[in-house]
This record gives sequence, C-alpha cells and structure tokens, in this order.
Amino acid sequence: MLKKYTLEAADKFVADNRENVITDYRHHYHMMAPVGWMNDPNGFVFYKGEYHLFFQYYPYDSSWGPMHWGHMKSKDLIHWEELPTALAPDQPYDKDGCFSGSAIEKDGLLYLMYTGHVVEDGNVRQTQCIAVSEDGVNFKKIKQNPVIAEEGLGSNGKIADFRDPKAFYRDGSYWIVIPTKTDDNRGRILLYKSKDLISWEFYSVLLEGNESQGIMWECPDLFHIDGKDVLIMSPIQIPKRGYEFHNISSTLAFIGKVDWDTGKFEVENEHEIDAGFDFYAPQTLVDDQDRRIMTAWMQMWDRTLPTHDLGHLWAGAMTLPRVLSVKDSYLVQKPVPQVYENLKITKREEEVVVKDSAVSFEDTVEDNMYIAFTADLSNSEEFSLRFSVDEESELIMEYQKNEGILSIDREHFGYDIKGNEEPQLVKRSLLVPLEDNKIKLELFRDTSSLEVFINDRQTMSTTFYEIEKSRNLNFTSKGTTRIEDLKLGHIIV
Ligand code: FRU
Repeated sequence: MLKKYTLEAADKFVADNRENVITDYRHHYHMMAPVGWMNDPNGFVFYKGEYHLFFQYYPYDSSWGPMHWGHMKSKDLIHWEELPTALAPDQPYDKDGCFSGSAIEKDGLLYLMYTGHVVEDGNVRQTQCIAVSEDGVNFKKIKQNPVIAEEGLGSNGKIADFRDPKAFYRDGSYWIVIPTKTDDNRGRILLYKSKDLISWEFYSVLLEGNESQGIMWECPDLFHIDGKDVLIMSPIQIPKRGYEFHNISSTLAFIGKVDWDTGKFEVENEHEIDAGFDFYAPQTLVDDQDRRIMTAWMQMWDRTLPTHDLGHLWAGAMTLPRVLSVKDSYLVQKPVPQVYENLKITKREEEVVVKDSAVSFEDTVEDNMYIAFTADLSNSEEFSLRFSVDEESELIMEYQKNEGILSIDREHFGYDIKGNEEPQLVKRSLLVPLEDNKIKLELFRDTSSLEVFINDRQTMSTTFYEIEKSRNLNFTSKGTTRIEDLKLGHIIV
C-alpha cells in the first residue's frame, strides 16, 4: 500500500524522532541530516547572501527510501541551519521519489529542478520537474510539470535512466546537463536549453562514454574555471585503471573545452576526483566571491553502513566543501577558507624526526582533529601516520616512495565494512609524486570521517567507525623521515 508522503509528515517525523538518534558517530561540523538517511547534495546554491544545500533525504529510516529533498543553509559552509523539508514525493509524476537535481536563481526566485521518479509495473520513468520559491524556504511544484518528459527525451536516451539535471546560466540562456544512457549501457550526458526554465529544447549530446567508462553517469556538473571547461560526474561500475576507480561507484572529472556551436565536449584529460572510500555525487556552486565550491556525499553505495546496522537512526553526511581550480588540466581541491576561521591550533612543532622507532603523540587524538605537516622523505623509503587504539587497531595512512603512492588502510580499524567490491576494498591508494622529496598533508578528522588534502591539490575522503576510541597519533618511518611544521588542533564548533 502506498504511504502518503507529505512535507508536513516529514517535518513532524523529524521533530518527533531527532532526539532518539544515537550520536556516537555524529560529526561536529560536517553537514548531516538530523535523523534518517541522506545521499547526494542537491540544489547547492548561493542565494541572497547564504549558501543553501539541499540533499536526497529519507527521514523515516537510516536506509534509502522514497526520496524527499532535505534543506539546510549556512553563512560559512561550516555551521548549518536546518530548514523545513523542501520537497516530498507527493505528485503523480514524482510519487516514487524526488531524485537529484539543482537550484538556480531567476528574477529573485529560487528554482529547484529535480527528477520525478515513478515506478509502474516494474517500469521506471524519470522526468524533469520544477519547484519555485519566493523566500528560499517554501517551494511550490509548478503546474507545467514535468517540464521534460518522454517527448523531450525522444530517441536520445532511456526514460528509465534520465535523471539529475544540473542547471546553469550562460550567454542569455538557461541550460542543463543531464545524464541518460545508451542502449548498450554506456553513459551519455545531454545538453538542453531554455529561455525561461519552463520550456526546454534538446541541444546536443555533450559527451558519451565508452565501455571502459562505466554503465551510467550520474549527477553531472559543468562549469568553466581557469580557462578550462570541467565536466564532473559519477560513473557506476567504471573499471579500475591503475589505482583509480576502485570503488563500485566513482567520481570523474573531464577537463577540456565545450564547443558551444556543436554542443560537444572535447576532452583533454580525465581523472578520478577523490581517492578515498567515501565520496560520491559531487555538486558545485559559485558564490559572491566567484569561488567555485564543491561538496559531495561522504558515503558509498552498496556497502554496509554501521550507523544503520547498529540502529543509530541516521546515515550519511557531506564532505567539507572545497574550493576548486584547474592546474595543468587537473581539478585541484582546497578546503574552503572559512574552515580556517574556526581552526584552533593547540600544538606546533617545527621539526619531528622519525627514525626507526615510532614517534607517538599520546592522548592527542580528538574527534574533530586537524593535523598538518610536510614530510621530507629524502632519507626514507616509507612513512606512516596512524590513529591507534593499539597495535592491532589502527587507521593507517602510509606513503611508499618506491611506488610513489599514498594509501589509506582501514582494514584493522573499527567496524568491518562490506561492499560490492571484489575482493573487499580495505585499502585505497593514490599516486602522489613527491616535490623535492616532500609531501604536504592536511587532515581533517571529524568523529567518523577523515579527509586528507595532499599537496594543496588532491584529496582522499573516508569514513570509519571506531569500536574503541583511538587516543594516540603515531608516526613511523623506514629510514629517517623529517616531519616539518607539524600542527595539531581542532575545528571549533
Ligand atoms: C546518485 C543517485 C542519483 C539519483 C539519486 C537517488 O547517488 O543514484 O542518480 O538521482 O541518487 O537518490
């Protein structure tokens, strides 16, 4: 029997159940829903002086269900204010879910463009819909919905996989990039154009994948920075390439150039966006300072989720928002500057020499710990940083010079996480060339997540679920590693 999902019911459920959430693994400053399940960031937008972030939301359980859009806003991307649920699957054209999409401002109004997901007799239909708000809080679905349906898709793709529109404004028109797939299961991104956000015409196939690029491309975003066009998206089942794409669902950045006459994307370079275990469906906005900022769902599909399995009544969080730039045809990520306004450094060491035996900072590990340093490997082959309970239970980050890789290993740490990956994925690695034999690392740990920024450029984002709290921060080395300018601290919230 179909349960009636409404905004009022969702908000009432949140109010009635938020206090029951078990907080052991809850973050301090990462955006999370108050109760229930969340996945993709949606409608990430800077509107009337504030950052708004919507998200795929099912408040009623800590596992995925008929999608609503949750909603929060922030002045600094660190402190988030909860707002009422923005969308519920309450119409015939979205009755099985208001799937991912985006937000855009027009004439002072905030438009949400999302995918209406309907399943009938086992057949899925995905169409594109709009909801509008005058105050940025209360949204009304428009009577013309769906604004792009079967006729609008035509023979350009499959109606069962036609979702996640990302809207933008360019050259006097509104545009969306939206995924679909080919008959032989390759990803395909379409471009549509509109004068008013209501009436849309198909413009082109922007880009199509090959067999080695996954079976579907979800949640695209297209933007221009530093002289390059960047198309980011989230491919499902993209095969591994070296150390890249080891999660079952990955993220990928194409760097290149859009030919706006033909509507084609010419690819110069492509690479995985984040090399951790938990990073998916990133979306970006531009703020009033012209910064291109990205956030992503810090979790992964098709894995066991300790907060769900343990009955903690919540699941999922967003990554720390990151400022993007492009350098040498590579998408560069740095933490948003606002995070440093909330950073308190509690310990600073000019130099720590790690030789033979481990250097241990005992009882220093904090839930929301910040660690930054540069490691000089001129005289070492290997070094590691470990959050340790004891020798059997450690979260290990290790650099190996001969292979030039930085790895995160969560095999012997906290709750066992099982996924669809074969063999089970317990370690992820990233190729990181040393610069003058050095590697610069910045770590943001927040209760059950670790985000590592490498050489002000690359990232690894990972969750973990401690059974016993780690207290000690240990450094080890094969040979002599010099740790320069070590800073330990935490984010004040
Ligand atoms: C990506 C995704 C989207 C879809 C949404 C449903 O994580 O699968 O393609 O719109 O999640 O929740």
